[in-house]
Amino acid sequence: MNFKMIYISSVLVFNLLFGLNYSEDISPIIYNNCTSCHRSGEISAFLPLTNYLEVYENRNLIAYAIEGDCTSSNDMVQIYLNLK
Ligand code: HEC
Repeated sequence: MNFKMIYISSVLVFNLLFGLNYSEDISPIIYNNCTSCHRSGEISAFLPLTNYLEVYENRNLIAYAIEGDCTSSNDMVQIYLNLK
């Protein structure tokens, strides 16, 4: 067994054990916290986050945004915190 096989098997075992999937685990978080602005007609229509593909294709940006430093003034997180 090479490293690739070990890696693929680990991913499969992880998925079986924790059963994470988009519709049950990820979409509620996105819909409840992000989609109100991130859809057409709203302030963040430039980056719609309304379905799996849109979220998947922007996963790196999303990871960057939610790790964002809330003290930097031009940060989405800052806007979000100010509006809350
Ligand atoms: C209150 C409205 C609002 C909500 C809620 C909101 N955003 Fe945003 N988002 C914005 C605005 C406005 C921008 C563009 C301004 C900016 O980039 O600073 C933005 C930009 C972004 C960007 C582009 C990168 C960046 O930092 O500019 C990403 C990625 C993003 N948002 C992800 C998310 C995610 C993930 C959530 C939910 C956890 C979310 N947003 C919730 C308003 C919102």
